[in-house]
Amino acid sequence: MSKPDPDEVSRQLAARSLANDDPTGWFEVLYRAAEAGETQVPWERTAPNALLAEWAAGSDGHGKRAIVIGFGTGQDSEFIASIGYDTTAFEVAATAVSAARRHFPNSRVDYVEADLLALPAQWIGRFELVVECLTVQSLPRPLRAQAIAAVVSLLGPGGRLIVVATSIDPAGDLNAGPPWPLTEAEIGIFGRPGITVVRQEHFPFADDPGFGRWRIEFARESP
Ligand SMILES: C[S@@+](CC[C@H](N)C(=O)[O-])C[C@H]1O[C@@H](n2cnc3c(N)ncnc32)[C@H](O)[C@@H]1O
Repeated sequence: MSKPDPDEVSRQLAARSLANDDPTGWFEVLYRAAEAGETQVPWERTAPNALLAEWAAGSDGHGKRAIVIGFGTGQDSEFIASIGYDTTAFEVAATAVSAARRHFPNSRVDYVEADLLALPAQWIGRFELVVECLTVQSLPRPLRAQAIAAVVSLLGPGGRLIVVATSIDPAGDLNAGPPWPLTEAEIGIFGRPGITVVRQEHFPFADDPGFGRWRIEFARESP
């Protein structure tokens, strides 16, 4: 018998978790089910996110600290470490952390269990590069402002934040999810004093023009 569609499994786990007022608990359940061979992690990849890799091509992270938010199956964090950054990567799901440590036994990445919505105080304002790919959109829309504020809080003076996210036309169904893609107005929530947009790009999906990808680079001013 074939396994159920992983996206459908995710949606069902998320619905149960959200009904129990637990917006992140389903990630651990999903990673454990994947470890048990019952499903797959829908966002599992074998290569770094192409928009992230293209953005970072040619950069040298030696002497700089990077943090990867909600690292998933670890390809982005391994890539960021491979271009020289002293890299921390965190996940709310403990099983994702143990899987990454096992999968990349010689990794230079420090894989850590942590919650974006309750960040360790020692991380605030500490990183020259913050990588946010598809994690803010995995949290329900009412948590958006809190999640985005937490993402931005990681940036050190002069640091860069790269955001890759799914876009949605504001006339679309904003309640359907996960994921809950970002409208252009929600991109504005990243903005705050001392944070500037270096470059904002949008890549519409050819087969579904109501959706696409954002790639946005933000900079924090140096004092
Ligand atoms: C859609 S996946 C994207 C994973 C990875 N960033 C990628 O692009 O492949 C979202 C990830 O964020 C993690 N996550 C969700 N909420 C989180 C939170 N509050 N703190 C840390 N990680 C979180 C989930 O466990 C999941 O692995």
